[in-house]
Amino acid sequence: MHLRQIISLFLLYVVSTTSAKRLIKPSERLLARQNANASAQQEGRVVGGTNADPGFASYQISIQGQYNGHWCGGSIIDKQWIITAAHCIDGYNPPYLRIITGTVEWDQPRAIYYADEFYTHCNYDNPEFANDIGLIHLNDSIVFDQYTQAIPLASKPLEDNAEAILTGWGDMAFGGPETKILQKLTLRHMSHKRCAEVYADEGILDVGHICTFTKEGEGTCNGDSGGPLISGGELVGLVNWGQPCAVGYPDAYASVYFYRDWIRRVMSGTCKTCHCEASNYPTFGSKK
Ligand SMILES: *[C@@H]1O[C@H](CO)[C@@H](O)[C@H](O)[C@H]1NC(C)=O
Ligand SMILES: *[C@@H]1O[C@H](CO)[C@@H](O)[C@H](O)[C@H]1NC(C)=O
Repeated sequence: MHLRQIISLFLLYVVSTTSAKRLIKPSERLLARQNANASAQQEGRVVGGTNADPGFASYQISIQGQYNGHWCGGSIIDKQWIITAAHCIDGYNPPYLRIITGTVEWDQPRAIYYADEFYTHCNYDNPEFANDIGLIHLNDSIVFDQYTQAIPLASKPLEDNAEAILTGWGDMAFGGPETKILQKLTLRHMSHKRCAEVYADEGILDVGHICTFTKEGEGTCNGDSGGPLISGGELVGLVNWGQPCAVGYPDAYASVYFYRDWIRRVMSGTCKTCHCEASNYPTFGSKK
């Protein structure tokens, strides 16, 4: 499963049709590898997931625009709150966002919800690619059912090599086919130390990141950004970036455990300085 669009790490960032590209900056080494493998990937080598059955990842949502299709993933963490990557929402006006819930087909919503505000981390992308986390507040309460549920936040750090489940509507290969059916993939947590060694040249693995890796051919891709990594029934990671796509490098996620205090403070409305990167959309100024 990968993310369709993410491509690289940032790719993940990359996500979407409109916004994405920004993330990629990466290093030449990363880009070179990506180019070298583009043709093979376009032949349809998938990134290794399988179709999720309805209700499998009931916390998974698709972030869409009014005029676009799926561009990012996210998770329901409360009746009126969605968590995702900052790069999925930064720069948009909240009323433009549509949140599709309760489905494994992004173009067949069971329900659609609307944002009245969102909050990105004050230090999003500072340093580059770091603190890539955001919360979307909905203007109505989500109706929970068998296909639509909240996922608990991580209560402890992930152990090295722990199993984790990634889901997303991202591309099934770099530059390759998109998927209408949600993909799921079981991955292994890679310790921060080992992952930092892999990305030592780029220096982009921050203290708030966690990584997964199993093998080449399995991982995130463009369109997976913001989406959930689950372990032990808890939300442990939000797709942030990677080298596109599943070409043998670890994928990086925002660590939900690391950011849980920030999440709780934003949701409770008790931290004004947490909101320094709220959308600032004029209509909703009273909420800040
Ligand atoms: C491209 O992918 C193949 C496997 O599909 C791998 O063996 C090869 O090392 C990759 N090339 C580069 C430059 O990464
Ligand atoms: C939420 O926002 C949407 C889109 O602006 C609007 O159509 C809907 O009526 C709003 N719902 C509530 C409960 O305010």
